[in-house]
Amino acid sequence: MKTSVSVNFAGIKLKNPVLTASGTFGYGYEIADLIDLKKLGGIITKTITLLPKDGNPPPRIVEADSGMINSIGLQNIGVCAFVEKPLEKLSKIGIPIIVSIAGACAEDYCGIIRILNGQRAISAVEMNLSCPNLQKQIICHNGKLTRQIIKSVKRISKFPIIAKLSPLITDISKLAISAQEAGADAVSIANTYPAMAIDIKTFKPKLAAVKGGLSGSCIKPITLAQVYEAHKKIKIPILGCGGISKAQDAVEFILAGASCISIGSAALISPKTLIEIAEGIEKILTDKKIKKITDIIGAVADGSEKQNKR
Ligand SMILES: Cc1cc2nc3c(=O)[nH]c(=O)nc-3n(C[C@H](O)[C@H](O)[C@H](O)COP(=O)(O)O)c2cc1C
Repeated sequence: MKTSVSVNFAGIKLKNPVLTASGTFGYGYEIADLIDLKKLGGIITKTITLLPKDGNPPPRIVEADSGMINSIGLQNIGVCAFVEKPLEKLSKIGIPIIVSIAGACAEDYCGIIRILNGQRAISAVEMNLSCPNLQKQIICHNGKLTRQIIKSVKRISKFPIIAKLSPLITDISKLAISAQEAGADAVSIANTYPAMAIDIKTFKPKLAAVKGGLSGSCIKPITLAQVYEAHKKIKIPILGCGGISKAQDAVEFILAGASCISIGSAALISPKTLIEIAEGIEKILTDKKIKKITDIIGAVADGSEKQNKR
């Protein structure tokens, strides 16, 4: 018998736990010609802001050992244009659409939510509170500000709220608790890690913005540990994101405490990886004779808790 891989995440029914990570597929519908998007659990769109943004000057993506560094800087067309075209197209795919949003303060986030609120194609909103290229030290590591912004958004949002957290904090569970207390329906762990690369021919930084966010396989073990830590302290579900490039990685995140996962860099290189991972998770769990994926969410974190209490 095949394992049931459907999950209920923040009130959204996902047919499997695999989502696209924000920012790595444009607005999300552009890869519809390359892969069958219907086979995914859902799409998380590129982050949109209240007003259009040009982002940082190029070059803004460089390769790193087992990963990449990007300094895109949230280039996007702004929420009004997003609702007009990309959202229209996304609504026709037939899988849950999670819209990623960002701003510099609560008013920015609330302004976007007021415009999105009437849109029935949206299943949830991911609040990007952690872009290393934009929000720097302002929101990322500040539990009080995180709480205040989420509370303001929750007051008016018609959608479930997923708070995407920065990994750049000694104990991410503190930030996750702040998000939970403010009413977030789920947390996304985590965004990229500030990083840089230098060209030894020119003696100059490879990115025009000097620093960017590190993603890809090299960050997987670090983010995995953060999901594990957060799962032990919070009750709301976790979306795990960081360096997942194969089904085995995804299963590790689920065992550490993620209810679902999103994939960025690996799918940017090869979009069909998304489908391979969705199918691979089902195969691994079926081979292990697991009835439902939900039976193993956080199994490793919960197991170690029990051992510690003995
Ligand atoms: C080119 C690029 C653009 C990104 N843009 C966004 C973005 O707009 N919003 C966001 O929340 N995260 C953005 N991210 C971060 C990813 O969503 C994800 O959190 C991160 O890349 C870690 O996952 P990965 O290792 O699977 O890529 C971007 C990442 C990359 C590589």
